[in-house]
Amino acid sequence: MGDVILKTSFNEVVNEVKDMVWPKPLKLFTAGPVACFPEVLQAMSFQMFSHRSKEYQTLHKDTILRLTSFLEAQESIVLLFPASGTGIMEASVRNFVSPNGSVLVTVIGAFGKRYREVVESNGRKAVVLEKGLGEPVLPEELDDALRKNPSVEAVTITYNETSTGVLNPLKELASVAKEHGKLVFVDAVSAMGAADIKFDEWGVDVVFSSSQKAFGLPPGLAIGAFSKAALKKAENIPNRGWYFDILKYVKYQEKQWSTPSTPPIPQIIALNVVLRIIDEIGGKYAWLSLYQERAAKVREGVKKLGLSILARKGFESPTITCVRAPEGVDGLEVYEAMRKRGYELAKGYGELKNKSFRIGHMGYMPNEYIDEMLEELGKVIEELRR
Ligand SMILES: Cc1ncc(COP(=O)(O)O)c(C=O)c1O
Repeated sequence: MGDVILKTSFNEVVNEVKDMVWPKPLKLFTAGPVACFPEVLQAMSFQMFSHRSKEYQTLHKDTILRLTSFLEAQESIVLLFPASGTGIMEASVRNFVSPNGSVLVTVIGAFGKRYREVVESNGRKAVVLEKGLGEPVLPEELDDALRKNPSVEAVTITYNETSTGVLNPLKELASVAKEHGKLVFVDAVSAMGAADIKFDEWGVDVVFSSSQKAFGLPPGLAIGAFSKAALKKAENIPNRGWYFDILKYVKYQEKQWSTPSTPPIPQIIALNVVLRIIDEIGGKYAWLSLYQERAAKVREGVKKLGLSILARKGFESPTITCVRAPEGVDGLEVYEAMRKRGYELAKGYGELKNKSFRIGHMGYMPNEYIDEMLEELGKVIEELRR
């Protein structure tokens, strides 16, 4: 259709859609999808090509090798999926837990609850270790829960609980789970790319994430890493399904550096660009420290406004800050008022909807945006307090 003739023009058609999704400019402090580097969006506009071509294989292999190094997963297998992260949450249960098996699900907020639902809706039993909002799971608590429930096959950990802005102590929790001989499944949807993951060394068996979070890409691509022990176990698990049969993904990758079904090529190009940017700025730890600095800047700014943070001290998230709405102020009103001023924060989640609001700090975010946002937030809080 390269020769189609329009009544209007291509630009007008595109602008109609732009007006629908971007009626006014907003600076994003969302929980995801987050803003992308403009250069990354540009790379995504390359013309498409076949996912069975040599060029795709080169892109796929290069991206996997870079991710393997980023996740320190050289002893394991990293895969790409045409999905959002929840797909791999489901795959972890279907591929690595026996049909009548049980899983210890740690819950510190909304996404831990989702893991529980995913376990149960796939016919497995969930034993729940739940903490209060703002709290992490502590290693001794996990140890105790595993002593009481020795028959569970795996433990699930939300590395970064996006609803409360809490970062769980993954290294220590994984170590406890390993002492008990359990598989460790990690939801790193809002952590991967901002909080360290030493996949092999820490003894993680499954970790997954989504593209629209800390790597700062559009949604549509899920990233997963899988240990050899988990893959071995999957060989004896029946009914793994088709779309998320992890062993099928491994086979396609090993044979032809591709995926069983069509992958989101623009997102993979974008991820490759971001992984190269990470190398350019000095590698993984230089990138992670940018996230640390940005999170600290947001937290300090919020505290200077007299506001308090939900997360327990020492467990604050590098990617999202959950702020308690001050006395007499509704968190949703803060969100709405900030949006009117051109800043899209994230609403409080679930039970915390009216009691909090969240400031995401992932993706493309020049430092001056943070300063401006904090200044406006101060004004909004003052107005709403009156
Ligand atoms: C911790 C966590 N887990 C899972 C999800 C679900 O991710 P997705 O919507 O990409 O499936 C999210 C999304 O915000 C999340 O923050």
